Amino acid sequence: MAQIFSPGADTWLRFGVTGVAVVVVLTVLLSGFVTSNYRTNMNFRPHQPVPFSHEHHVGGLGLDCRYCHAAVEVSRHAGFPPTHTCMTCHSQLYTDAAMLAPVRQSLANAQPLRWSRVAKLPDYVYFDHSIHIAKGVGCSTCHGEVQKMPLLYPAHALTMEFCISCHRDPAPYLRASQAEVFDMTWQPPSNQLSLGEQRVVERGIAGRNLTDCYTCHR
Ligand code: HEC
Ligand code: HEC
Ligand code: HEC
Ligand code: HEC
Ligand code: HEC
Repeated sequence: MAQIFSPGADTWLRFGVTGVAVVVVLTVLLSGFVTSNYRTNMNFRPHQPVPFSHEHHVGGLGLDCRYCHAAVEVSRHAGFPPTHTCMTCHSQLYTDAAMLAPVRQSLANAQPLRWSRVAKLPDYVYFDHSIHIAKGVGCSTCHGEVQKMPLLYPAHALTMEFCISCHRDPAPYLRASQAEVFDMTWQPPSNQLSLGEQRVVERGIAGRNLTDCYTCHR
Protein backbone atom coordinates (compact mmCIF):
# COMPACT_ATOMS: atom_id res chain seq x y z
CA MET A 1 0.00 0.00 0.00
CA ALA A 2 1.31 3.42 -0.91
CA GLN A 3 2.39 5.46 2.01
CA ILE A 4 -0.11 8.31 2.51
CA PHE A 5 1.70 10.05 5.29
CA SER A 6 5.40 10.64 5.05
CA PRO A 7 7.47 9.56 8.06
CA GLY A 8 7.71 13.24 9.11
CA ALA A 9 3.93 13.81 9.05
CA ASP A 10 3.45 13.02 12.72
CA THR A 11 5.91 15.76 13.65
CA TRP A 12 4.13 18.22 11.37
CA LEU A 13 0.79 17.24 12.87
CA ARG A 14 2.12 17.94 16.36
CA PHE A 15 3.40 21.29 15.14
CA GLY A 16 -0.01 22.06 13.69
CA VAL A 17 -1.88 21.19 16.87
CA THR A 18 0.54 23.18 19.03
CA GLY A 19 0.24 26.09 16.59
CA VAL A 20 -3.55 26.10 16.84
CA ALA A 21 -3.34 25.96 20.64
CA VAL A 22 -0.93 28.90 20.70
CA VAL A 23 -3.23 30.94 18.45
CA VAL A 24 -6.24 30.16 20.65
CA VAL A 25 -4.40 31.16 23.83
CA LEU A 26 -3.11 34.37 22.24
CA THR A 27 -6.60 35.27 20.97
CA VAL A 28 -8.10 34.78 24.41
CA LEU A 29 -5.34 36.84 26.04
CA LEU A 30 -5.60 39.60 23.43
CA SER A 31 -9.39 39.89 23.61
CA GLY A 32 -9.07 40.21 27.39
CA PHE A 33 -6.44 42.88 26.82
CA VAL A 34 -8.58 44.82 24.34
CA THR A 35 -11.53 45.15 26.73
CA SER A 36 -9.48 45.54 29.90
CA ASN A 37 -9.24 48.83 31.75
CA TYR A 38 -5.66 49.11 30.58
CA ARG A 39 -6.56 49.24 26.90
CA THR A 40 -9.66 51.41 27.37
CA ASN A 41 -7.89 53.73 29.82
CA MET A 42 -10.58 53.78 32.50
CA ASN A 43 -9.46 55.21 35.83
CA PHE A 44 -6.34 56.44 34.15
CA ARG A 45 -4.97 59.81 35.27
CA PRO A 46 -2.10 60.84 33.03
CA HIS A 47 0.75 63.00 34.23
CA GLN A 48 0.07 66.67 33.42
CA PRO A 49 2.59 69.56 33.29
CA VAL A 50 0.32 71.45 35.74
CA PRO A 51 -2.19 69.76 38.10
CA PHE A 52 -5.16 71.63 36.59
CA SER A 53 -8.41 70.96 38.45
CA HIS A 54 -11.83 71.00 36.78
CA GLU A 55 -13.28 70.59 40.27
CA HIS A 56 -11.85 73.98 41.34
CA HIS A 57 -12.28 75.89 38.09
CA VAL A 58 -15.65 74.50 36.96
CA GLY A 59 -17.27 73.11 40.13
CA GLY A 60 -15.90 75.86 42.42
CA LEU A 61 -15.48 78.99 40.29
CA GLY A 62 -18.36 78.10 37.95
CA LEU A 63 -16.45 78.74 34.71
CA ASP A 64 -18.27 77.72 31.52
CA CYS A 65 -16.65 75.02 29.36
CA ARG A 66 -16.52 77.48 26.43
CA TYR A 67 -14.28 79.84 28.40
CA CYS A 68 -11.47 77.34 27.78
CA HIS A 69 -12.80 74.97 25.12
CA ALA A 70 -13.98 77.76 22.86
CA ALA A 71 -14.35 75.81 19.61
CA VAL A 72 -16.58 73.02 20.89
CA GLU A 73 -19.81 74.32 19.31
CA VAL A 74 -18.37 75.19 15.92
CA SER A 75 -15.69 72.64 15.11
CA ARG A 76 -14.69 69.00 15.27
CA HIS A 77 -12.31 69.77 18.11
CA ALA A 78 -13.11 71.35 21.45
CA GLY A 79 -9.46 72.42 21.73
CA PHE A 80 -7.37 73.42 24.74
CA PRO A 81 -7.05 76.93 26.19
CA PRO A 82 -4.05 79.05 25.22
CA THR A 83 -1.79 80.02 28.13
CA HIS A 84 -2.99 83.61 28.20
CA THR A 85 -6.46 82.31 29.17
CA CYS A 86 -4.93 80.94 32.39
CA MET A 87 -2.98 84.17 32.86
CA THR A 88 -6.16 86.26 32.80
CA CYS A 89 -6.43 85.18 36.43
CA HIS A 90 -3.02 83.79 37.31
CA SER A 91 -1.14 86.99 36.49
CA GLN A 92 -2.83 88.25 39.70
CA LEU A 93 -3.59 85.02 41.56
CA TYR A 94 -0.97 82.57 42.87
CA THR A 95 1.67 84.51 40.95
CA ASP A 96 4.54 82.83 42.82
CA ALA A 97 3.08 79.34 43.20
CA ALA A 98 5.62 76.70 42.18
CA MET A 99 2.94 74.51 40.65
CA LEU A 100 2.13 77.32 38.22
CA ALA A 101 5.76 77.77 37.12
CA PRO A 102 5.21 75.80 33.88
CA VAL A 103 2.34 78.19 33.02
CA ARG A 104 4.56 81.26 33.50
CA GLN A 105 7.33 79.60 31.51
CA SER A 106 4.93 78.73 28.72
CA LEU A 107 3.92 82.40 28.46
CA ALA A 108 7.51 83.68 28.66
CA ASN A 109 8.76 81.25 25.99
CA ALA A 110 5.63 81.42 23.84
CA GLN A 111 5.47 77.60 23.97
CA PRO A 112 2.02 76.07 24.53
CA LEU A 113 1.55 73.73 27.51
CA ARG A 114 1.60 70.10 26.38
CA TRP A 115 -1.34 68.39 28.04
CA SER A 116 -1.54 64.60 28.10
CA ARG A 117 -4.71 63.46 26.42
CA VAL A 118 -7.50 61.86 28.41
CA ALA A 119 -10.09 61.45 25.64
CA LYS A 120 -8.47 60.35 22.42
CA LEU A 121 -9.74 58.24 19.54
CA PRO A 122 -7.56 56.29 17.12
CA ASP A 123 -6.86 58.22 13.89
CA TYR A 124 -9.10 55.95 11.83
CA VAL A 125 -12.23 57.13 13.69
CA TYR A 126 -13.98 60.32 12.60
CA PHE A 127 -15.61 62.41 15.30
CA ASP A 128 -17.10 65.90 15.37
CA HIS A 129 -18.10 67.82 18.51
CA SER A 130 -20.20 70.49 16.82
CA ILE A 131 -22.95 68.20 15.47
CA HIS A 132 -23.39 66.46 18.83
CA ILE A 133 -23.68 69.79 20.66
CA ALA A 134 -26.08 71.18 18.02
CA LYS A 135 -28.36 68.15 18.30
CA GLY A 136 -28.50 68.26 22.11
CA VAL A 137 -25.99 65.65 23.33
CA GLY A 138 -24.44 66.97 26.57
CA CYS A 139 -20.75 66.97 27.53
CA SER A 140 -21.39 64.86 30.62
CA THR A 141 -22.94 62.04 28.55
CA CYS A 142 -19.51 61.35 27.05
CA HIS A 143 -17.06 62.91 29.54
CA GLY A 144 -18.84 62.36 32.87
CA GLU A 145 -19.12 64.92 35.67
CA VAL A 146 -15.83 66.75 35.11
CA GLN A 147 -16.80 69.43 37.67
CA LYS A 148 -16.14 66.79 40.35
CA MET A 149 -12.73 65.73 39.02
CA PRO A 150 -9.62 67.24 40.68
CA LEU A 151 -7.60 65.58 37.94
CA LEU A 152 -9.43 64.61 34.81
CA TYR A 153 -10.04 60.95 34.02
CA PRO A 154 -12.11 59.19 31.36
CA ALA A 155 -15.59 58.49 32.75
CA HIS A 156 -16.45 56.25 29.78
CA ALA A 157 -14.20 54.19 27.57
CA LEU A 158 -14.69 55.60 24.07
CA THR A 159 -15.22 52.21 22.46
CA MET A 160 -17.11 51.54 19.26
CA GLU A 161 -19.92 50.02 21.31
CA PHE A 162 -20.19 53.21 23.40
CA CYS A 163 -20.71 55.27 20.23
CA ILE A 164 -23.01 52.82 18.49
CA SER A 165 -25.28 52.15 21.44
CA CYS A 166 -26.36 55.79 21.27
CA HIS A 167 -26.31 56.00 17.46
CA ARG A 168 -28.84 53.15 17.39
CA ASP A 169 -31.23 55.12 19.60
CA PRO A 170 -30.26 58.63 20.71
CA ALA A 171 -33.68 59.53 22.19
CA PRO A 172 -32.79 58.83 25.86
CA TYR A 173 -29.92 61.34 25.68
CA LEU A 174 -31.20 64.33 23.70
CA ARG A 175 -31.51 67.39 25.93
CA ALA A 176 -33.91 70.31 25.55
CA SER A 177 -31.53 73.21 24.88
CA GLN A 178 -27.95 74.41 24.51
CA ALA A 179 -28.04 75.49 28.17
CA GLU A 180 -28.76 71.88 29.15
CA VAL A 181 -25.91 70.59 26.96
CA PHE A 182 -23.48 72.49 29.21
CA ASP A 183 -25.30 71.54 32.43
CA MET A 184 -23.00 69.01 34.04
CA THR A 185 -25.63 67.82 36.54
CA TRP A 186 -28.37 67.11 33.95
CA GLN A 187 -30.57 64.12 34.70
CA PRO A 188 -33.23 62.86 32.29
CA PRO A 189 -36.77 63.89 33.33
CA SER A 190 -39.30 61.07 33.83
CA ASN A 191 -40.85 61.67 30.38
CA GLN A 192 -37.46 61.78 28.59
CA LEU A 193 -38.31 58.94 26.22
CA SER A 194 -41.33 60.65 24.64
CA LEU A 195 -39.54 64.03 24.60
CA GLY A 196 -36.47 62.38 23.08
CA GLU A 197 -38.51 60.68 20.33
CA GLN A 198 -40.03 64.07 19.49
CA ARG A 199 -36.57 65.68 19.32
CA VAL A 200 -35.26 62.93 17.04
CA VAL A 201 -37.94 63.99 14.53
CA GLU A 202 -37.74 67.78 15.07
CA ARG A 203 -33.96 67.83 14.76
CA GLY A 204 -33.86 65.81 11.54
CA ILE A 205 -32.13 62.76 13.05
CA ALA A 206 -34.98 60.36 12.20
CA GLY A 207 -34.48 58.24 9.10
CA ARG A 208 -30.70 58.54 9.16
CA ASN A 209 -28.68 55.38 9.59
CA LEU A 210 -26.09 56.47 12.11
CA THR A 211 -24.75 52.94 12.54
CA ASP A 212 -23.33 52.80 8.96
CA CYS A 213 -19.60 52.16 9.14
CA TYR A 214 -19.03 55.22 6.95
CA THR A 215 -20.44 57.53 9.65
CA CYS A 216 -17.33 57.03 11.79
CA HIS A 217 -14.81 55.40 9.42
CA ARG A 218 -14.41 57.57 6.30
C1 HEC B 1 -10.26 77.28 33.04
C2 HEC B 1 -10.17 76.47 31.88
C3 HEC B 1 -11.09 75.28 31.67
C4 HEC B 1 -12.46 75.19 31.82
C5 HEC B 1 -13.43 76.26 32.27
C6 HEC B 1 -12.83 73.85 31.41
N1 HEC B 1 -11.71 73.14 31.05
FE1 HEC B 1 -11.64 71.25 30.33
N2 HEC B 1 -9.62 71.33 30.23
C7 HEC B 1 -8.84 72.43 30.56
C8 HEC B 1 -7.43 72.07 30.50
C9 HEC B 1 -6.26 72.99 30.82
C10 HEC B 1 -7.39 70.72 30.09
C11 HEC B 1 -6.12 69.83 29.91
C12 HEC B 1 -5.68 69.27 31.24
C13 HEC B 1 -6.59 68.19 31.77
O1 HEC B 1 -6.82 67.19 31.09
O2 HEC B 1 -7.12 68.37 32.88
C14 HEC B 1 -8.76 70.29 29.93
C15 HEC B 1 -9.15 69.01 29.52
C16 HEC B 1 -10.46 68.63 29.32
C17 HEC B 1 -10.87 67.32 28.81
C18 HEC B 1 -9.91 66.18 28.44
C19 HEC B 1 -9.59 66.19 26.98
C20 HEC B 1 -8.44 65.29 26.60
O3 HEC B 1 -8.57 64.55 25.63
O4 HEC B 1 -7.40 65.33 27.27
C21 HEC B 1 -12.23 67.30 28.80
C22 HEC B 1 -13.10 66.14 28.38
C23 HEC B 1 -12.68 68.57 29.30
N3 HEC B 1 -11.60 69.35 29.59
C24 HEC B 1 -14.01 68.91 29.45
C25 HEC B 1 -14.46 70.11 30.01
C26 HEC B 1 -15.85 70.41 30.23
C27 HEC B 1 -17.01 69.48 29.92
C28 HEC B 1 -15.90 71.67 30.78
C29 HEC B 1 -17.13 72.45 31.25
C30 HEC B 1 -17.97 71.76 32.20
C31 HEC B 1 -14.52 72.14 30.90
N4 HEC B 1 -13.68 71.16 30.42
C32 HEC B 1 -14.15 73.37 31.40
C33 HEC B 1 -9.31 73.67 30.91
C34 HEC B 1 -10.63 73.98 31.19
C1 HEC C 1 -20.79 62.31 21.82
C2 HEC C 1 -19.69 62.29 22.75
C3 HEC C 1 -19.06 63.61 23.15
C4 HEC C 1 -19.69 64.75 23.58
C5 HEC C 1 -21.17 65.03 23.72
C6 HEC C 1 -18.63 65.69 23.92
N1 HEC C 1 -17.41 65.12 23.67
FE1 HEC C 1 -15.59 65.97 23.97
N2 HEC C 1 -14.66 64.37 23.13
C7 HEC C 1 -15.31 63.24 22.67
C8 HEC C 1 -14.37 62.39 21.98
C9 HEC C 1 -14.70 61.07 21.30
C10 HEC C 1 -13.12 63.04 22.04
C11 HEC C 1 -11.80 62.57 21.42
C12 HEC C 1 -11.75 63.11 20.01
C13 HEC C 1 -10.56 62.65 19.19
O1 HEC C 1 -9.62 62.07 19.71
O2 HEC C 1 -10.60 62.92 17.96
C14 HEC C 1 -13.33 64.28 22.79
C15 HEC C 1 -12.34 65.19 23.08
C16 HEC C 1 -12.55 66.35 23.84
C17 HEC C 1 -11.50 67.30 24.23
C18 HEC C 1 -10.03 67.20 23.88
C19 HEC C 1 -9.69 68.15 22.74
C20 HEC C 1 -10.36 67.78 21.47
O3 HEC C 1 -11.09 68.62 20.92
O4 HEC C 1 -10.17 66.66 20.97
C21 HEC C 1 -12.12 68.29 24.97
C22 HEC C 1 -11.45 69.49 25.60
C23 HEC C 1 -13.54 67.98 25.01
N3 HEC C 1 -13.76 66.80 24.32
C24 HEC C 1 -14.49 68.77 25.63
C25 HEC C 1 -15.88 68.62 25.47
C26 HEC C 1 -16.88 69.58 25.92
C27 HEC C 1 -16.58 70.89 26.63
C28 HEC C 1 -18.11 69.07 25.57
C29 HEC C 1 -19.48 69.68 25.77
C30 HEC C 1 -19.69 71.04 25.26
C31 HEC C 1 -17.86 67.80 24.91
N4 HEC C 1 -16.51 67.57 24.85
C32 HEC C 1 -18.86 66.95 24.42
C33 HEC C 1 -16.65 62.94 22.83
C34 HEC C 1 -17.63 63.85 23.20
C1 HEC D 1 -11.28 82.87 36.09
C2 HEC D 1 -10.02 82.81 36.78
C3 HEC D 1 -9.11 81.62 36.53
C4 HEC D 1 -8.67 81.10 35.33
C5 HEC D 1 -9.04 81.54 33.93
C6 HEC D 1 -7.75 80.03 35.66
N1 HEC D 1 -7.64 79.90 37.02
FE1 HEC D 1 -6.48 78.55 38.00
N2 HEC D 1 -7.26 79.18 39.78
C7 HEC D 1 -8.12 80.25 39.94
C8 HEC D 1 -8.48 80.36 41.36
C9 HEC D 1 -9.44 81.37 41.96
C10 HEC D 1 -7.78 79.32 42.01
C11 HEC D 1 -7.87 78.94 43.50
C12 HEC D 1 -8.96 77.87 43.57
C13 HEC D 1 -9.20 77.34 44.94
O1 HEC D 1 -8.27 77.25 45.72
O2 HEC D 1 -10.36 76.97 45.16
C14 HEC D 1 -6.99 78.63 40.99
C15 HEC D 1 -6.13 77.58 41.27
C16 HEC D 1 -5.28 77.00 40.35
C17 HEC D 1 -4.27 76.03 40.66
C18 HEC D 1 -3.90 75.53 42.06
C19 HEC D 1 -4.49 74.18 42.31
C20 HEC D 1 -5.97 74.30 42.52
O3 HEC D 1 -6.69 73.91 41.61
O4 HEC D 1 -6.38 74.80 43.57
C21 HEC D 1 -3.69 75.65 39.47
C22 HEC D 1 -2.57 74.65 39.27
C23 HEC D 1 -4.35 76.42 38.42
N3 HEC D 1 -5.31 77.23 39.00
C24 HEC D 1 -4.04 76.31 37.09
C25 HEC D 1 -4.73 76.98 36.07
C26 HEC D 1 -4.48 76.78 34.66
C27 HEC D 1 -3.45 75.82 34.06
C28 HEC D 1 -5.35 77.59 33.99
C29 HEC D 1 -5.55 77.71 32.50
C30 HEC D 1 -5.88 76.47 31.79
C31 HEC D 1 -6.13 78.31 35.00
N4 HEC D 1 -5.73 77.90 36.24
C32 HEC D 1 -7.11 79.25 34.71
C33 HEC D 1 -8.62 81.06 38.95
C34 HEC D 1 -8.44 80.86 37.59
C1 HEC E 1 -25.32 59.95 23.48
C2 HEC E 1 -25.46 59.84 22.06
C3 HEC E 1 -24.26 59.79 21.17
C4 HEC E 1 -23.01 59.25 21.43
C5 HEC E 1 -22.52 58.59 22.70
C6 HEC E 1 -22.24 59.42 20.23
N1 HEC E 1 -22.99 60.03 19.26
FE1 HEC E 1 -22.35 60.54 17.38
N2 HEC E 1 -24.15 61.40 17.00
C7 HEC E 1 -25.22 61.46 17.87
C8 HEC E 1 -26.27 62.27 17.28
C9 HEC E 1 -27.63 62.58 17.91
C10 HEC E 1 -25.79 62.72 16.03
C11 HEC E 1 -26.49 63.66 15.05
C12 HEC E 1 -27.12 62.90 13.92
C13 HEC E 1 -27.89 63.78 12.99
O1 HEC E 1 -27.85 64.99 13.09
O2 HEC E 1 -28.55 63.24 12.12
C14 HEC E 1 -24.45 62.15 15.89
C15 HEC E 1 -23.65 62.35 14.78
C16 HEC E 1 -22.36 61.84 14.63
C17 HEC E 1 -21.54 62.04 13.46
C18 HEC E 1 -21.89 62.87 12.25
C19 HEC E 1 -22.66 62.03 11.27
C20 HEC E 1 -22.94 62.74 9.98
O3 HEC E 1 -22.65 62.16 8.96
O4 HEC E 1 -23.46 63.84 10.00
C21 HEC E 1 -20.36 61.37 13.68
C22 HEC E 1 -19.18 61.27 12.76
C23 HEC E 1 -20.46 60.75 14.99
N3 HEC E 1 -21.70 61.06 15.53
C24 HEC E 1 -19.47 59.98 15.57
C25 HEC E 1 -19.51 59.50 16.87
C26 HEC E 1 -18.44 58.76 17.51
C27 HEC E 1 -17.13 58.38 16.85
C28 HEC E 1 -18.85 58.50 18.79
C29 HEC E 1 -18.11 57.79 19.90
C30 HEC E 1 -16.81 58.30 20.26
C31 HEC E 1 -20.18 59.07 18.93
N4 HEC E 1 -20.56 59.66 17.75
C32 HEC E 1 -20.93 58.99 20.09
C33 HEC E 1 -25.29 60.87 19.11
C34 HEC E 1 -24.23 60.26 19.79
C1 HEC F 1 -20.70 55.56 15.82
C2 HEC F 1 -19.34 55.38 15.41
C3 HEC F 1 -18.90 54.08 14.78
C4 HEC F 1 -19.55 53.34 13.81
C5 HEC F 1 -20.90 53.60 13.18
C6 HEC F 1 -18.69 52.22 13.49
N1 HEC F 1 -17.54 52.30 14.26
FE1 HEC F 1 -15.94 51.03 14.15
N2 HEC F 1 -15.03 52.04 15.66
C7 HEC F 1 -15.54 53.16 16.29
C8 HEC F 1 -14.63 53.56 17.36
C9 HEC F 1 -14.82 54.73 18.31
C10 HEC F 1 -13.54 52.65 17.32
C11 HEC F 1 -12.31 52.64 18.23
C12 HEC F 1 -12.55 51.73 19.39
C13 HEC F 1 -11.44 51.69 20.40
O1 HEC F 1 -10.41 52.36 20.24
O2 HEC F 1 -11.63 50.95 21.36
C14 HEC F 1 -13.83 51.71 16.24
C15 HEC F 1 -13.00 50.63 15.88
C16 HEC F 1 -13.23 49.80 14.82
C17 HEC F 1 -12.32 48.74 14.40
C18 HEC F 1 -10.96 48.42 15.02
C19 HEC F 1 -11.01 47.19 15.86
C20 HEC F 1 -11.68 47.37 17.16
O3 HEC F 1 -12.77 46.78 17.35
O4 HEC F 1 -11.16 48.09 18.03
C21 HEC F 1 -12.90 48.12 13.34
C22 HEC F 1 -12.33 46.95 12.55
C23 HEC F 1 -14.18 48.77 13.10
N3 HEC F 1 -14.34 49.79 14.02
C24 HEC F 1 -15.07 48.40 12.11
C25 HEC F 1 -16.35 48.95 11.95
C26 HEC F 1 -17.34 48.44 11.00
C27 HEC F 1 -17.14 47.26 10.05
C28 HEC F 1 -18.45 49.24 11.14
C29 HEC F 1 -19.79 49.13 10.43
C30 HEC F 1 -20.50 47.87 10.63
C31 HEC F 1 -18.14 50.24 12.16
N4 HEC F 1 -16.87 50.01 12.63
C32 HEC F 1 -19.00 51.24 12.57
C33 HEC F 1 -16.71 53.81 15.97
C34 HEC F 1 -17.64 53.41 15.06
